[in-house]
Parts: sequence; C-alpha cells; structure tokens
Amino acid sequence: MRTILEMLSGGDFVSGEAMSKELGISRAAVWKKIAQLKEQGWQIEAGGKRGYRLQAGDSLEPALWVGKLTTRQLGRGEVRYLQETTSTNTEVKQMGVQGAPHGSLCISELQTAGKGRLGRQWISLPGVGLWQSVLLRPDLAPQDAPLVTLCAALAMARAVDEVTGLNARIKWPNDVILNGHKLCGILLEVSMDPDRIESIVVGVGLNVRKGAYPEELADKATCLEECGALPLRRDLLVHYLQALEDAVDALERHGLPGIAEEYRRRSCTLGSRVHVVGAVDLIGTAEDIDETGALLVRTDDGALHRVLSGDVSVRGVMGYV
Ligand code: BTN
Repeated sequence: MRTILEMLSGGDFVSGEAMSKELGISRAAVWKKIAQLKEQGWQIEAGGKRGYRLQAGDSLEPALWVGKLTTRQLGRGEVRYLQETTSTNTEVKQMGVQGAPHGSLCISELQTAGKGRLGRQWISLPGVGLWQSVLLRPDLAPQDAPLVTLCAALAMARAVDEVTGLNARIKWPNDVILNGHKLCGILLEVSMDPDRIESIVVGVGLNVRKGAYPEELADKATCLEECGALPLRRDLLVHYLQALEDAVDALERHGLPGIAEEYRRRSCTLGSRVHVVGAVDLIGTAEDIDETGALLVRTDDGALHRVLSGDVSVRGVMGYV
C-alpha cells in the first residue's frame, strides 16, 4: 500500500477522498496524517475540493521516487537516504559487507569525504548534485569488472539525455561530458576473489546546479544548470537506475558487444587526439576499445598501445588544446 507521500509524489492534487479510500482510513485520519507531514517540514498545499498537493522541490526523499522506478532490481534493495555521510561509496561498501542485496543504494545530500578517481577528493555540497552509489552483485567474471565502469558512464549519459534532451558524451573510461566539460564522475570499487566478483560499488557524482563543483575547476567542469537544464534529481536517478540495469543486463548476456555500439557512439575519445598520463605517457589517436575495455591508442610512429588506466586528456575536451 502506498504512503501519503508516495500518493502525492506526482506533484498533482490528490483528493482527501482518494487517499482515505486507498488507505482505508477516514477523511479525518487523512487530515491528521497530512498535519503530521507538515510538522515534519513537508510543504503541502490544501486546495479545497481538489485535495492536497505536495511542493517537494528537488527532494531526493525515497518516498517521492520509489513508486516511479521501472527497474526489476536496482533501487529495490536497501535504500539509504542521508543528509550527510563521509562517502556514499563507503556507506554502500559497508551495506554490502552486511549482506545488502544487489540493487541497494545510498544517496547523500552532503559528502564530507567524497572520493574521486586516482585518490582525489570529490567535493559534494548539499542540494546541488546527485551524490549516489549503488551495490551490484553482477553475474560476471572478475576480468569483466572494468566493463561495468563503461556501463555506468553509458547509463548516466543516457539518463541525462532522456531527462534533459541534451547530448551527453563519454570521455574514456567513464567521465560524462557536456559541452566539452565534465558533468559527472564515476568511481567503481570492486570486491572480488580470484574466480568471482563479490560486489561492485558504482558511485556517481553528477553536477546539477550551479555551485556543484569548486570554482577552480571552472575551465574543466560543468553542471546541468549551466547547460540550460534544471531537472529534478529524482527523475535523473530513476532514469539512471533503469539505464544502468539495462546496460549491466546487456553486458551479462552479450559481453562488451552488448554495450559497445552505444558506448562508441557517445564517446568523445574515440577518433580524437589524446594525451595519456599514467603508467605510460603518450600522445596519439584513440582508435577503439578492446574486449577488455582498454583504450587502443595509435602513436605517430604507427605503434598501437593498450591503455588500461590513467588520465586521458582529449583534444578539445576539458581544456586539452
Ligand atoms: C571522479 O573522480 O571522476 C569520480 C568521482 C566520483 C564521485 C562520486 S560521488 C558519489 C560517490 N561517493 C564517493 O565518495 N564518490 C562517488
């Protein structure tokens, strides 16, 4: 049975009568519950005969979005919504150790020790972004774990496009890019033993409103608001979870070919001049990804290099000129 918050989550007026029928309680009892919600801080407008309408703003409160989920499993396990935590990845890793099922997740308004790739920190202020991690227990061999990172980037790019109508691209392996600037970073943490993946924590940091990223990153980062879109974060989340579930399903069923076509189409790395900084330092043209998800870069001497990790700058994207 839906709660009153779930019934009001559509943002339209719902009559007291409809609520009393669905909940099997009197109109007076509905009124009492509405009064309690108001006391908890929810802004609920009373519209006479039309009933009640929730002004939920951009809240990520699960009651406002779980009813909109279209997934089979993602978002349907344990769901933790916090005002503050160190890192949603750390939170979900702990949930995994305690046995939380595939599809469990954590969202936090504020992260006090948000983690970025390559040991960097990820600034995550309240209300301006979607700071979220999901627990996957995929049916994949350990060597396929890096491919899940490509799924996550694909899923977020697709979700952004579906919700905003913009055209998000992917910088290998998993930065989501809009207008040549980084919109979303993704951090995977994998627990595995030699022959099976125990769990994967997929953390996404999506910049939504102005103020989401620090001023000094202005030449590299962007947010949806700067790109002319200001969707509800819960809509982005619902679309992202569906897209991630679809991409991981496709990977489990068909391996990399299940996601490669869309990944290649959305890539701003493939076909571009790139500068790779990491275990190797090279400049060349990114030609393709191989079946392990590694980037294949051809240097000007004709040699083909497999890049497994590291920082890849793409000419014309995020300040590499
Ligand atoms: C990157 O450096 O590009 C990856 C950034 C990943 C940030 C997200 S925010 C939610 C989740 N929790 C973390 O501590 N990090 C990821």
